[in-house]
Amino acid sequence: MKLTTEEQDMLDGKYGKAAQKSMEILTTLGEIFDAECMIDVYGVQIAGVSYANLGEAGLEFLSEMAEDGKVRVLTTLNPAGMDRENWQALGIDKEFAKNQNRAIDAFAKMGIITTCSCTPYLIGNSPHFGQHIAWAESSAVCYSNSVIGARTNREGGPSALASAITGKTPKYGYHLDKNRHGEVLIKVNAPVKGTDEFGVLGKIIGDKLVEIGKKIPYITGIPNATVEELKSFCASIATYGGTALFHMQEITPEYNEYPKPSNITFEINQEDLDKTRKELIDGDIEIDFVSIGCPHASIHEIEKIASLLKGKNVKKEFWITTARPTKRIADEVGYSKIIEDAGAKFAADTCCVVAPIKGRFKGIMVDSAKACYYGRAKNKFKVKIGSVEDCVKEAIK
Ligand code: F3S
Repeated sequence: MKLTTEEQDMLDGKYGKAAQKSMEILTTLGEIFDAECMIDVYGVQIAGVSYANLGEAGLEFLSEMAEDGKVRVLTTLNPAGMDRENWQALGIDKEFAKNQNRAIDAFAKMGIITTCSCTPYLIGNSPHFGQHIAWAESSAVCYSNSVIGARTNREGGPSALASAITGKTPKYGYHLDKNRHGEVLIKVNAPVKGTDEFGVLGKIIGDKLVEIGKKIPYITGIPNATVEELKSFCASIATYGGTALFHMQEITPEYNEYPKPSNITFEINQEDLDKTRKELIDGDIEIDFVSIGCPHASIHEIEKIASLLKGKNVKKEFWITTARPTKRIADEVGYSKIIEDAGAKFAADTCCVVAPIKGRFKGIMVDSAKACYYGRAKNKFKVKIGSVEDCVKEAIK
């Protein structure tokens, strides 16, 4: 790879050990993927933050990097394994909390903003169209590439940290125009509405892409979509299809930039949506846990939950997972009080997937197709998908 003098100096250790290690990681990646050079990144988002994923080995790597590593660009974190302020109320054990805080402290020492969220684009880590970034969380990668039109590959934890410390990423993959063309035309012939339904649609398309071995769909037939619907769709299509970029006619910014694919066409009808929704419901199950906010809830979603919960009492464990800055807005405008007076709990900084709650509940109800996938696969819960209204109804039943 062609390196600038500064990049070569980093590689030679002139900027310290962490920068050297980071440049080694990035040049190795660049060589594997045939990148010609490095490019500057505007911002970074790091995943693999939960102590449950990091373990002692991950913590050791972070501590070493934190000895002399400092980030050069705006960097935030993916959800951690617990709410950093409210972990006891969510039933997290003391030992786990201690270790999770050790990890967060190591990130903080490097100058990383320790806001732990999978929706960095809602809380100020917000690139604009065409900007290069290095993000790791799959739903956020898909959202930034597709909905914002920023450019990122899906980074691993170490490569994202390396980009934060150097301010660079190797120029390959989704950073290049030639890899951003739609490959398969998907026609949606039914109305799609709500975060749950966009999640169902994401699963259908994701499953199809895996089946036909394609990565970038070009979707038509969706007349409009909210930020919340798109973030749910991104989480789902990334989970089921490994998708990091899609184009949606009239909705995403690059839909007209490249030729519309015409060789492969796949149609989605109402019966496909109905069938796939059924696949995300494990029959007539007992629900003892309800969670909304996968990906992290926006202030708009929290407002809606507050209006649905006003004057009611929840009968089941009910989490609203969101970013700490979003929770602070909800506190200020009074939504948090309404929600907490009803007995529901905020789980900021974390979510129902990364928190260590495996086996703690029998059945979870969510509005997210991604949470269904991990609720089953990781936490061994039975699952049921429904709209936000249905989830609230279930919680107060
Ligand atoms: Fe975010 Fe957790 Fe869902 S990280 S996308 S809320 S699984």
